[in-house]
Amino acid sequence: MRLLQIDSSARLSSVSRELTAQFTEEWKRENPGGEVVVRDLAKTPLPLITDEWTYAVHSDPSKLTPEQREVLAISDTLIAELFAADTVVIGVPMYNFSLPWTLKAWIDQVVRIGKTFAYDANGPQGLFTGKKIVIITSRGGSYAAGSPRAQADFQEPYLRHILGFIGAIDNTFIHAENQRPGGELAAPSKTAALEQIHLVAAQ
Ligand SMILES: Cc1cc2nc3c(=O)[nH]c(=O)nc-3n(C[C@H](O)[C@H](O)[C@H](O)COP(=O)(O)O)c2cc1C
Repeated sequence: MRLLQIDSSARLSSVSRELTAQFTEEWKRENPGGEVVVRDLAKTPLPLITDEWTYAVHSDPSKLTPEQREVLAISDTLIAELFAADTVVIGVPMYNFSLPWTLKAWIDQVVRIGKTFAYDANGPQGLFTGKKIVIITSRGGSYAAGSPRAQADFQEPYLRHILGFIGAIDNTFIHAENQRPGGELAAPSKTAALEQIHLVAAQ
């Protein structure tokens, strides 16, 4: 069994990092002998896609030039890393009601026609199927369903959609809400997230 742990917070001492690390610890206990691969998108940021990149992904793979292969090399590596995993845990801080750019850059590299999705007569089909994805978010406020701020959560709906688009439909979201430093709800909200992590890692 293989776990891919992805971290994206700009902060090295961060809530989402603490929680993905906890998930990984519990996953290792549940999967003795399992392998863990860590992809830290803040410590090693990915390049943004370019004109050359978009041209290369829409070219005939058998006719790519050596330069085009080079342009796609990082995307190839990230996609291989993703397919090699049985479980993926993604740590996501909420920035401006959405994602950090580090994670969006990863998404742009791995959502790739012919690799993670394809079109057939019925429209787009996800090719990245049969995997378990756990998304652990940390946010300063609360965006719980039914709350006044729920409609400002552009993080979970986007991630749920883009992961589903590539075929990953077994998605579990765990939110550490109210993570304002010094806020009285920060500690109980983190404890609640840890309890969920414990349950999900054991599944
Ligand atoms: C640049 C930036 C933007 C943020 N935007 C939001 C936001 O839109 N909504 C929110 O609830 N919290 C926001 N926060 C607070 C973070 O989501 C919160 O501190 C969270 O714990 C960050 O995750 P981390 O601890 O893993 O870094 C923002 C923080 C930063 C640094």
